[in-house]
Amino acid sequence: MGYVGPAEAAPILVDGLQRLEYRGYDSAGIAVHDGTVVAIRKAEGKLGRLVAMLDEHTPAGSTGIGHTRWATHGPPTDFNAHPHTDPAGDIAVVHNGIIENFLPLKERLGESGASFASDTDTEVLAHLIAEEYDGDLKEAVRRAVGRAQGAYALVAMSRKEPGRIVAVRMISPLIVGLGDGETFLASDIPAILHRTRSILVIENGEMVDVTPDGVTIETLDGAAVEREPLEISWNAEQAEKGGYPHFMIKEIFEQPDVITETLSGRISGTSEVVLDGVAFPDGFVEGLDKIWITACGTAYHAGLVGKEIFERKLRIPVDVVYAHELRYRDPIIRPGSLTIAISQSGETADTLAAAELARSRGSRLLAITNVVGSTLSRISDDVLYTRAGPEIAVASTKAYLAMLIGEYLLTVAMGRARGRYTPAESADMITGLRHLPQAAEEILEGAADIAELAEAFDGAEDVYFLGRGVDYAVAMEGSLKMKEISYIHSEAMPAGELKHGTLALVTRGTPVVTVLTQGDVYDKTVSALQEVKARGAHTIAVAYADDADAHKHADRVIRIPRVPDLLSPVLSAIPLQLLAYHVADARGHDIDQPRNLAKSVTVE
Ligand code: M6R
Repeated sequence: MGYVGPAEAAPILVDGLQRLEYRGYDSAGIAVHDGTVVAIRKAEGKLGRLVAMLDEHTPAGSTGIGHTRWATHGPPTDFNAHPHTDPAGDIAVVHNGIIENFLPLKERLGESGASFASDTDTEVLAHLIAEEYDGDLKEAVRRAVGRAQGAYALVAMSRKEPGRIVAVRMISPLIVGLGDGETFLASDIPAILHRTRSILVIENGEMVDVTPDGVTIETLDGAAVEREPLEISWNAEQAEKGGYPHFMIKEIFEQPDVITETLSGRISGTSEVVLDGVAFPDGFVEGLDKIWITACGTAYHAGLVGKEIFERKLRIPVDVVYAHELRYRDPIIRPGSLTIAISQSGETADTLAAAELARSRGSRLLAITNVVGSTLSRISDDVLYTRAGPEIAVASTKAYLAMLIGEYLLTVAMGRARGRYTPAESADMITGLRHLPQAAEEILEGAADIAELAEAFDGAEDVYFLGRGVDYAVAMEGSLKMKEISYIHSEAMPAGELKHGTLALVTRGTPVVTVLTQGDVYDKTVSALQEVKARGAHTIAVAYADDADAHKHADRVIRIPRVPDLLSPVLSAIPLQLLAYHVADARGHDIDQPRNLAKSVTVE
């Protein structure tokens, strides 16, 4: 966060940090300039500790910077919290991301007699800027950045230049909010959305100079940049909890609307899909013979569903590869192929690197992302925005569902182009998609029953999720949700794989959740369910409302409305999200900010 204006900076910075805390929350700090001195307050732990410290004494001043940290270099401690300064305390810096060559820089500075107060790479930046400083903060930052390598964003201020902050974007996101006689800097829009809707998105390799007279942007090479602000249309309410105890449950309940939003305006007549932002060249889809999907975490699981539907409906081979794997392989990505990079934030460092790699091999790059103006959207040839609104909980829910909807829309659009969908078939698919918001609503009406099922997880140390085909992809997502917020060890596997080893771990009372929606492999999945039941597992199945047999195979059955099998992931994921939520809630965990995790992983 950064602020330059007429108001007291500290409350504005802290308020912004509260809204950014989901990006990292192991320590926090601010630096405020009162025209003479720069006062720094910082504390290990969640923002509340900093707030308590500020309650005792809030530094005065109308220029400031602030930060919440997700540790990369050095443990979460008071002294590793940002802001960091040079030894004289003249330069204060906050930064996201990593300075990759910080060690040689630190050694070199050490040889010149510098001493360091923290383990961080950030402190090295403060030293470099101080070393380069000769009265002009912007030029000092420019020269210092020229010596640093890595993917990061930084904001700096100088004790000698009150009313000025300078920021740089090197890959990690950075935005500027234009207020009435005041300017805000942040790494994400929700931090300042309630203050201004007028946003400048800073591009990679640009620097921003903020003074009371206004904002100038230039490239690191010194070329002036003219940029029109974006007017953000999100409702500020969307970025708040809206009466729910946690963002995660609020976001789960938003899903019917998110499906509607993501479909909205993209269906023409009864059978055509029109995707704004996607403009394949003539003949591209018809000649396409390979699709790559790359992503991490939940977005990767959405990609697994995508593989099933693209292969079945388009008959194009699809490889889904974790972005952190793809980027370091030598994949056989050929010109003329399509790479779909999926990322809620559009800022995940691994996903961006894998997407760049695919593009460098001549693949056309299509982004499925939730954040307008995100880095991924800007490096892609085509962008399918998911319109889930800001997702605040670390555990992704509504963005996942919106990604699936994006994939179905893409399937219909490409299927029509390839002649694989007749108008009648695509009309059927569209009817199915249009029914999903109502079907999702019905599941949410039964949320209380799912909350009761959480009891089955009392004292559980291991949980297993099973499924076949798209049900396996959903099982993967259900398992990730469970482990990341309940901290119970959880594994997902294809139902047929269980007997090849993992069955040895199933004992009396082990919860096993089976997604049981795919008609063509129903009996096969039931066999696996029976195998775990025979070993005393506590079995829970997710099955269609009209499945008259499910209760014969599982101890408890969660019902979802009947939809065409290929669309079932949109619905079967919802009970698994609710289950994870209630198990974590019963254990008293910090649901929106699970330990060790951050919402956007903008470092490798
Ligand atoms: O912003 P992205 O979709 O690229 O994030 C990818 C993963 O970090 C993310 O999905 C993560 O796995 C979620 N916290 C899971 O709930």
